[in-house]
Amino acid sequence: MTQSRYTGTARGLHWLMAVFILLTIPAGLIMVQPGLDRSLQNGLFIYHKNIGVLLLILIVVRLVWRLRNPPPAKPSSLSPIQARIAEFTHIAMYALLFLVPIAGYVRVKAGGFPIESLDALSIPSLVPRSEALAEIAKTVHYGAGLLLIALIAMHIGAALFHGVVKQDGVFSRMWPPVGGGTR
Ligand code: HEM
Ligand code: HEM
Repeated sequence: MTQSRYTGTARGLHWLMAVFILLTIPAGLIMVQPGLDRSLQNGLFIYHKNIGVLLLILIVVRLVWRLRNPPPAKPSSLSPIQARIAEFTHIAMYALLFLVPIAGYVRVKAGGFPIESLDALSIPSLVPRSEALAEIAKTVHYGAGLLLIALIAMHIGAALFHGVVKQDGVFSRMWPPVGGGTR
């Protein structure tokens, strides 16, 4: 029988990352607002940076795993153009999920700021101190972050359209997050 659902590992990683990303983006957007209470801002920065590092580790694990485990074939209910758009969106999201946290890391370390989790483990900075580099990384983090948000919004819209309106089985390829067969 042809496999029609993502494996448990793929679904587990997808939903674990989705939860962390959806908790990280609002923190990133709120913490840069002017006039924010100082201790709330500090808390959000610590939270955002450290969840961001966790996401960077998870995306590396997920990409390595994904390259060795091809996804199930696209359902025949999708037109070729829909399948191409979905594939392009997925590749772009993977690329941005890699680029955005790396730019965040460079922005913080080149700027001379702490990343509490890595500092506690005595992991040295992988980039030199440089205000110019920090500024470039800040711009990349911002621009690529906004693009990622737009793609995620499109992606969630499409997933809900398939799950709620069309009910064509595309949603259950990635659902439930755990269990439901296919290792
Ligand atoms: C997938 C992971 C991440 C996402 C989706 C994300 C997203 C965002 C967003 C939307 C903002 C607000 C827009 C802006 O002003 O730049 C932001 C700001 C910020 N993020 Fe992230 N981020 C991620 C990972 C990280 C990591 C790993 C770090 C550092 C270790 C980091 C550090 C920062 C900093 C310092 C800011 C404030 C930018 C500034 O004004 O200097 N982010 N992030
Ligand atoms: C929040 C951040 C999210 C990100 C970054 C993300 C990313 C991805 C990626 C990269 C894939 C392709 C998997 C692969 O082929 O390797 C995928 C598939 C999928 N995602 Fe998400 N996702 C997110 C949230 C969601 C949410 C909230 C839903 C549902 C409402 C959803 C539903 C799906 C479905 C149904 C698929 C399978 C599509 C197919 O048939 O190929 N995703 N997602």
